[in-house]
Amino acid sequence: MTSAAQLAELATDIAREAGVLARQRREEGVRVADTKSSIADIVTEADREVEALIRRRLREARPEDGFVGEESEPEHGASGITWVVDPIDGTVNYAYGIPHYAVSIAAVQGVPEPAEWTALAGVVYGAVSGELFHAVAGEGAFLDGRPIAVNPEPSAAGALLATGFGYDPRSHAGDLAQVERVMPYARDLRRFGSAALDLCAVACGRLDGYFERGLKPWDHAAGGLIITEAGGRIDVGSEPDDFGRVLVVASGPALFDRLLTAARGA
Ligand code: IPD
Repeated sequence: MTSAAQLAELATDIAREAGVLARQRREEGVRVADTKSSIADIVTEADREVEALIRRRLREARPEDGFVGEESEPEHGASGITWVVDPIDGTVNYAYGIPHYAVSIAAVQGVPEPAEWTALAGVVYGAVSGELFHAVAGEGAFLDGRPIAVNPEPSAAGALLATGFGYDPRSHAGDLAQVERVMPYARDLRRFGSAALDLCAVACGRLDGYFERGLKPWDHAAGGLIITEAGGRIDVGSEPDDFGRVLVVASGPALFDRLLTAARGA
């Protein structure tokens, strides 16, 4: 039987290889291959190629496992373990040459839906920074092998927060209203462009909290485990808004309930 730590080791090796490929393709020039939910929601040829590489490596190592990825068809496995993968989280950054994007790989057990799965291992690899975040269920969260922890509470100046905005322009008014509700708790607000890295930033105390509507399972599967193993809390949402988007909120324990209530706005 494979341990969760071994799954994390496998994910680490593959994420590093995938990150090198993503960086190399970026240096060669990015081609947008398609759009998805809206004209602003792009997929590059590199997203697809990097996901294919990750999928191939996982299949070679663990042919019985399932796979859910951002850019290809899901596949059920026989082992009860599913890999949830975002090959390039921060695709718009990637396309514009902003060096802030990541490979995100998680191994989950059970039904591969965020509300139902048990995350076993998660890896987020900052492909340009070279920073490797990982977590193993029950064994902690780490940045480049060193243990990390969330900020237990924000400073008196308020919380340093990050968020993201949906690709559908019709949802922007709701997102801005959400920002207005949350700002009384904030010292400032960041929009970095990679949800996986935002979650890791909360996990290691670079941010106090993060909230966003519209994330997909692969955006938060690995980062969510890294948050909880770093002593933080995350809610991955259950009630979709008018655009079908669920709300994800993550922070250290002291801020969590206030941030969730303000972000929900109900
Ligand atoms: C996106 C990024 C972005 C977030 C979007 C995500 P992608 O993922 O994480 O920060 O605001 O909601 O879709 O498309 O670059 O993998």
